[in-house]
Amino acid sequence: MSFDRDRPITGREVQIEGVKAIMSKTDLQGRITHASRSLLEISGYSLDELIGQHHNILRHPDMPRAIFYLMWKTIQRGEEFYGMTVNRAKNGDHYWVFARVAPIEREGQVVGYSSVRFVPPRDVIKGYESLYREMRVAEKAHGKKNEEQCLKGVAVLDKFLAKQGAKNLTEYVLRQLRI
Ligand SMILES: Cc1cc2nc3c(=O)[nH]c(=O)nc-3n(C[C@H](O)[C@H](O)[C@H](O)COP(=O)(O)O)c2cc1C
Repeated sequence: MSFDRDRPITGREVQIEGVKAIMSKTDLQGRITHASRSLLEISGYSLDELIGQHHNILRHPDMPRAIFYLMWKTIQRGEEFYGMTVNRAKNGDHYWVFARVAPIEREGQVVGYSSVRFVPPRDVIKGYESLYREMRVAEKAHGKKNEEQCLKGVAVLDKFLAKQGAKNLTEYVLRQLRI
């Protein structure tokens, strides 16, 4: 077992049975305002533990900062974002999800964000594990937690996407999942 800040990481994957839509909503700052029962079951948190918390409560240390950087830029432009995420459960186990994150509009105003996640096919996970490892190495080499660090990860991602002939991460993720 290794530790990230005070959070244990077990290296064990959560076993998810059947097809599940794992949903949550946040306010404009990313504080959780809604969590589906499936999210509670998979993450091991109670509703009380999640509501009001920042969504980074689910962050796994293997996730590149660049992915969230791109996600926030995309949704703050008013667009939807598709990506693959590994999340950390309360007990330190992890689970991979394919996620769509998008703005929630009410009377023409963005009032928050919503996310729906599905369990991806097993065969696509390996590729993301190695891509994200490479992105994390580039980010960690930079050291400082700033925008420049995110851009180091973005550069690795852009090189990878260019090799795959994809315009951006959303296009690549959707193509790979044949959606
Ligand atoms: C609707 C919505 C859903 C999110 N879902 C997740 C998630 O499942 N896992 C995660 O690590 N971050 C998620 N985030 C991103 C977090 O807000 C945060 O940017 C990320 O965990 C990185 O946090 P950090 O910069 O504090 O390390 C979500 C954000 C929004 C707006």
